[in-house]
Amino acid sequence: MSESIVIGMDAADLPTPVLVVNAGVLRRNIAEMGAHAAALGVALRPHWKTTKSAEVARLQLNAGSVGHTAATVAELAALAGGVSPSVFLAYPPVGRFRVGTVIEASRTAKVIVGADSVDAVRDLSDAAAAAGVVIPVRLDIDTGLHRTGVVPEVAVAAARAVAILPGLHLDGVWTHEGQVQAAGTDPVERHRRGVRAGEVLVAVAEAIRADGHEVRSVSVGSTPGVRSAPTVPGVTEARPGTYALGDENQVHIGTIAPEDVAVSVHSRVISTQPADWAIIDAGIKAMSSDGSMHGDGRIGTVISDGGGVVITGHEEHGFLQGADDPRVGEVVRIRPNHACGVVNMHHRIVVVEDDVVTGLWSVLARH
Ligand SMILES: Cc1ncc(COP(=O)(O)O)c(C=O)c1O
Repeated sequence: MSESIVIGMDAADLPTPVLVVNAGVLRRNIAEMGAHAAALGVALRPHWKTTKSAEVARLQLNAGSVGHTAATVAELAALAGGVSPSVFLAYPPVGRFRVGTVIEASRTAKVIVGADSVDAVRDLSDAAAAAGVVIPVRLDIDTGLHRTGVVPEVAVAAARAVAILPGLHLDGVWTHEGQVQAAGTDPVERHRRGVRAGEVLVAVAEAIRADGHEVRSVSVGSTPGVRSAPTVPGVTEARPGTYALGDENQVHIGTIAPEDVAVSVHSRVISTQPADWAIIDAGIKAMSSDGSMHGDGRIGTVISDGGGVVITGHEEHGFLQGADDPRVGEVVRIRPNHACGVVNMHHRIVVVEDDVVTGLWSVLARH
């Protein structure tokens, strides 16, 4: 145990600001998603950038996940170091540090790499061939987010070019259907975008197969798209991450119920001097400055009794507006905009059950 946090203490006595996860809600979310993937007949490979916790990874594996997804090579190294048997690096292995970590991690876990060009995997090909290993590669397809990924029209040519590189093996195709979240509060449009992403990806997989290549994995990934994209026949894997903790952005757009959000930041009111707001001890270093889907610039939404919104933040100061009679010293619990961003701001997760501290988990791979 560190500082003044001890197992069995009352959550109300925690030092603030502090990242708190409700273990019962977390376990329920993990079990529900495991059942959802099993019912669809797709593999579940949660994105680990949301929680960065070895304990959460183990809960996900115990609930049927086949492995994990990583965004950074620090996450890959942490997962491959005895936490997860199989890791998909959904990020181009560009730069010697990434190539080196992929090769190293492939000695202790199954490592699959995602990329959208031959240029992005050429150094990995050379290094894998020199090391005498074969690294599976999934081709990144742009199904509408326009971040990375080849457009479907040139996917066959890109797959052909990757497939002939030594030291690599073409494993499949993947996409991150972040355009589903961008549809906001419209459930019909979200569903349409998710299904469309799945259909585009499956069509690309079929075109690559028709060109003579084996395509084992057809992988979609997002929390707002997890009820739509993986329902398309031919999709083999889903990679949601945020689902484990939930956050205010998912609550706002209607993809997660408020009672299913496991994460909160606890803070204290430190000043009521300003006329228009109170000041709390959670600013952007506790909340992150991740944007709000509300569109009003807030960094957090209060869920404890006094209510209100953290309308903006300095580093260690949050500006709490609309709270009912805030008092200096009062504990304020906040639902963050974005779970992945807020976890990365903290080095530990305080685990609570019935408002009693039951665990303290390290947040790994924060760089
Ligand atoms: C490549 C990739 N896969 C999966 C996910 C998981 O999405 P979500 O956070 O909506 O669960 C993300 C999130 O950004 C991602 O970038």
